Amino acid sequence: MSEVVTYKREGAIGVITIDYPPVNALSHAVRSGLLDALSQGQADEEAKALLLVCEGRTFVAGADIREFGKPMQEPSLPSVVNAYESSDKPIVAAIHGTALGGGLELAMGCHYRVAVPGAKVGLPEVKLGLLPGAGGTQRLPRLTGARKALEMITTGNFISAEEALEAGILDEVRSEDTARAAGVVIAGDVIAQMKPPRRVRDMEEKVRADRGSDVFDEFRATLEKKSPNLFAPFRCVDAVQAATDLPFEEGVKRERELFMECMKSPQRDGLVHAFFAEREASRVPGLPRDTPVRSVDSAGIIGAGTMGGGIAMNFANVGIPVFLLEQKQEALDKGLALIRRNYESTARKGRITSQQVEERMALIRPTLSYDDFSDVDLVIEAVFENMDVKKEIFGELDRVCKAGVILASNTSTLDIDEIASATSRPEDVVGMHFFSPANVMKLLENVRGSKTSSEVQATVMKVAKRIGKVGVMVGNCYGFVGNRMLHRRGAEATALVNEGATPQQVDKVLTDFGFPMGQFAMSDLAGIDVGYRIRQERRKAGEQVAPNWMDKLAEEGRLGQKTQAGVYRYEEGSRKPVPDPAVDALIEQFRMEHGIRPRSISNDEILERCLYVMVNEGAKILDERVASRALDIDVVWIHGYGFPSYRGGPMFWADQVGLETILASIKRFRDTSGGDQWEPSALLEKLVSEKRRFSDLN
Ligand code: 3HC
Repeated sequence: MSEVVTYKREGAIGVITIDYPPVNALSHAVRSGLLDALSQGQADEEAKALLLVCEGRTFVAGADIREFGKPMQEPSLPSVVNAYESSDKPIVAAIHGTALGGGLELAMGCHYRVAVPGAKVGLPEVKLGLLPGAGGTQRLPRLTGARKALEMITTGNFISAEEALEAGILDEVRSEDTARAAGVVIAGDVIAQMKPPRRVRDMEEKVRADRGSDVFDEFRATLEKKSPNLFAPFRCVDAVQAATDLPFEEGVKRERELFMECMKSPQRDGLVHAFFAEREASRVPGLPRDTPVRSVDSAGIIGAGTMGGGIAMNFANVGIPVFLLEQKQEALDKGLALIRRNYESTARKGRITSQQVEERMALIRPTLSYDDFSDVDLVIEAVFENMDVKKEIFGELDRVCKAGVILASNTSTLDIDEIASATSRPEDVVGMHFFSPANVMKLLENVRGSKTSSEVQATVMKVAKRIGKVGVMVGNCYGFVGNRMLHRRGAEATALVNEGATPQQVDKVLTDFGFPMGQFAMSDLAGIDVGYRIRQERRKAGEQVAPNWMDKLAEEGRLGQKTQAGVYRYEEGSRKPVPDPAVDALIEQFRMEHGIRPRSISNDEILERCLYVMVNEGAKILDERVASRALDIDVVWIHGYGFPSYRGGPMFWADQVGLETILASIKRFRDTSGGDQWEPSALLEKLVSEKRRFSDLN
């Protein structure tokens, strides 16, 4: 008798219950348990209909992702789904929580489907680099028609029970207390009305109507625009088309072939790594799970600029009241107007109601006085990067805030310990580094100083989750994990242009790799003056920072998108970078002044230099324990800087390229161009000599 799937008869209904926490994933044990329970139900003469339900927080959330890449153990999921569909006794699936991937496929193998309100269904396989491989691409279009099936399968987005009802996926949405109770009602009806098994595989009407439709090419064209580099979405379209072109049995075979192609693709490896890394990042080594956390029911943000305003929105979005402080009324008004514009634009897109706009605005309380911060639970300072200013602010906070408050800085580079030294309570001080636009970007790089208490660390990780961010805990150093690596890439990209590449060439190599924007388009977005100011500070401090052509841009007032001219130029009201001959001339001039004879630079060299320099820095970051694990670095780069998730993040990607290959190139670059960025990381050398990989350190 299986422990994770049980069979029990209640009256005339044979109830099959899956109980496999946390999400009832279809592991080997669940799959075999499902077949055993089905046999019992078939053999039980008293059972006139069967009901499939789940214990715990959700219906089946899919195949067990942890089994991917391991040898498959029988029974396979498609054979389980087929067995359910072939049952002579009608089977009802009752859904709560989420029926996802293999879970929805199993439900579609059942003959009737009911859900409780609040339930969601979806086929998110594409987000893991796969397609539904247990008949989902063949059964869903039979229920919904090809367009809806393509929409769901190529995006992986979940839909609500109500939408699923309308689309034909569910037969009913019922408000009983539990899905089980709703299922009992439906199974009772099936028995009373002697309804036979109704098999989706036999439903031909919708797929026949879609045969030869243009909808498939329409989706391919959209994908070509939106995500040309991705492998799985195109295979999803092929599989759904097979449902319309081929008889069911052959369509299923075609689905299997396409599924196996996806399974073998390196993109699947990268996406599955990204899925687990994101969840693993929330478990911080050295921070026990039972570390007490402080309650955060109110917040205060200092600085109502783009960053501060975006941060405040995150709190208002989840119902946490937040004070927003500025020095001058005018700045405050401007900040609030921007927040309102953002909310109203979201409402126009239909993602929130106009009532929600007002509710959220009401939670954001503008103030000019630190006195309003006397009772808040969390303060986040988001003013410009200047240590003296930040220290002054933290001194003030130390005076006005209550005991037990968490004092956070949104600094992107500065020393958290030095900021904390301006207070009498460094154990309460922490970095919370948001990424611009702060109401959109998912990453929250939490930075622990040398004295930050475990309680404060655990609390900010919890806050991240609560406001819908992916929190990663990192250590204190210049630029932390993300910007420290970004600065290396930026310097290398700039040097490549010094030597002969064009900014467009560098950016194209990076976007072809899968970044949403290149290094220089990103500099224009962030502001050319930001990097310039940092370089000038370092020069003032006596550091050797070689001159480069970007300095000239800043000195000419080409500060990026905000001045409609930076590395690129921008038409009024547009964010699209347009190459500018004036910049080519400026670069040319710079090269002449410094006696540089430009050479032709290959795309391979650009990619290697831009990415290997990051991997080398990442290895140093790991060696210094600024990041606890390579996966933390991967999560920072995927969610903060748009590193393509199908490549798994920079450290995972490095493992795939091969650390030996990367180290050899790093040494070559050191020998040809010098610079401490090419000084090989001791950790990288050690891993290569021991034939190990970054993932061995996770
Ligand atoms: N297999 C194995 N473990 C899974 C899992 C799965 N399909 N889905 C979630 N988990 C695990 C998570 O890793 C996590 O484990 P942890 O606590 O040890 O970190 C735990 O379940 C809880 O997950 P979350 O932290 O993500 O919890 P949430 O409540 O935020 O979200 C969820 C729940 C919506 C189910 C979300 O986990 C999710 O989207 N899961 C993936 C669903 C999916 O992609 N299913 C398709 C799988 S592929 C497939 O079915 C192939 C088939 O077509 C052949």
